[in-house]
Amino acid sequence: MDLVEALRTTGAARKFTDQPVDDHLIIDILDDARFAPSGGNRQPWRVAVVKDLAIRRRVADLMTTVWQQYRGESKQSTLAPFAFGRSTNATPMAEPNELLDNIEHVPVVLALAADLKSIALMDAHLDRPPITGGGSIYPFCWSILLAARARGLAGVMTTFLSRAETEAAPIVGLPQDHALAATIFLGYPVHLNTKLSRAPVSEFATVDRFDGGRLA
Ligand SMILES: Cc1cc2nc3c(=O)[nH]c(=O)nc-3n(C[C@H](O)[C@H](O)[C@H](O)COP(=O)(O)O)c2cc1C
Repeated sequence: MDLVEALRTTGAARKFTDQPVDDHLIIDILDDARFAPSGGNRQPWRVAVVKDLAIRRRVADLMTTVWQQYRGESKQSTLAPFAFGRSTNATPMAEPNELLDNIEHVPVVLALAADLKSIALMDAHLDRPPITGGGSIYPFCWSILLAARARGLAGVMTTFLSRAETEAAPIVGLPQDHALAATIFLGYPVHLNTKLSRAPVSEFATVDRFDGGRLA
C-alpha cells in the first residue's frame, strides 16, 4: 500500500479474528522490520514469538496487574491524560482488558527485548530519565506494525510488561543485560481503526526554537 496512506491510517487493533497467522508470515514481517534504523546500526532487538499458552497466561496476568495500577495512577498523574480511543473509530480502552483476558486467542504475541550492551544511552548522565535508548528499538517495533499492515494484519505495541520485567524475565527467558521493550499483538483485526486523531503540526512545530513562531 502507499507509504503515506499507511503512515496516516495505521491505528491500534486489539481485537482479532480467529484466522491464524502462519509462521512464514511472521518471518516475512520480521524480515521487513529488520531494516529499521538503530543507533550505530547495532540492531539490538531480540524477538520471542510466544506461542505456549501457559507462558501467555502468566505474562497476561502480570500485564493485567500493571494495567489496573496504571489506570488508577493515571487519574492522579502529572502525565497528559489518556487519549486511548480518541481516534474517530477506535474502540475505547476499558477495564477489564479484553486483549489480556483473551491472550490465548491472539494470533501472534511477540515479546521484544533490547540488548542494553548494544545501545548507547547518549543522555544517561543527565538529571532526568534517559530517553534516547528507546530510539534503537521502537522504530523496529513500529516497522513490525507497518510490515503487518502491508499484509492485511494489524495490532498494537504495548509496554505494560516492562513494568513487570523482573517477574516476567524468568518466564520468557529474558537474556542477561536485556530489557523487555515491548509486547506486540498481531492478527487479522475485527475492526481496523483508520481515522486517527493526532494533534496538528501547528501544535508541535515551531521555527528555530521551541518557543519560536509557527511554521508558515
Ligand atoms: C511506546 C508505546 C507504548 C504503548 N503501550 C501500550 C500499552 O501498554 N497498552 C496498550 O493497550 N496500548 C499501548 N500502546 C498503544 C497506544 O495506546 C496507541 O498507539 C495509541 O493510543 C494510538 O492509538 P490509535 O492509533 O488507535 O489512535 C502503546 C503505544 C506506544 C507507541
